[in-house]
Amino acid sequence: MKVKVSRKAHFNAAHRLYRPDWSFEKNEAVFGKCNNPRYHGHNYDLIVSVEGEIDPETGYVMDMKVLKDLIKAHVEDAFDHKNLNEDVADFKGLNPTAENIAVVIWNKLRSQIDESKKLEVVLYETPRNFVTYTG
Ligand code: NI
Repeated sequence: MKVKVSRKAHFNAAHRLYRPDWSFEKNEAVFGKCNNPRYHGHNYDLIVSVEGEIDPETGYVMDMKVLKDLIKAHVEDAFDHKNLNEDVADFKGLNPTAENIAVVIWNKLRSQIDESKKLEVVLYETPRNFVTYTG
C-alpha cells in the first residue's frame, strides 16, 4: 500500500530569462517581460511529495519534520531572497525557468531521500502557472 505525503514550502527569488548567446531582440521576442535586464521577482510556492510504503513501526511514509528540514536546508536557504541568475551556482549557464528550477530542486532532494520512495516536485511560479517534475 503506497501513500503520498506532501510538504508545502515557499521562497521569494528574482530571475531573468535570457540566453547570452542570443541578441537582445531575440531574447525579447522569446522571453518577453521575463528578459528584463533589471530582473523581476516571483513568490514561488513549492510542494514536495514523497510516496512509499507506510513504515509499520512508525506509521510514517516519511517523518515530515525531516522533509521540512531537507527543504529548508537545500531549497529555502539556497534560493530565498536570492537572484537566481547571479547568486545561485545551479543556474550558471541554465535559464532559471520554472521548469529548470523544479528539476534542480528535485535533483537536490533526490539524493537526500530513501531510494525506495518516489519523489515529486510541484513548483508554482504564479498562482496559476506551475510545473511538475517526477524524475
Ligand atoms: Ni519570471
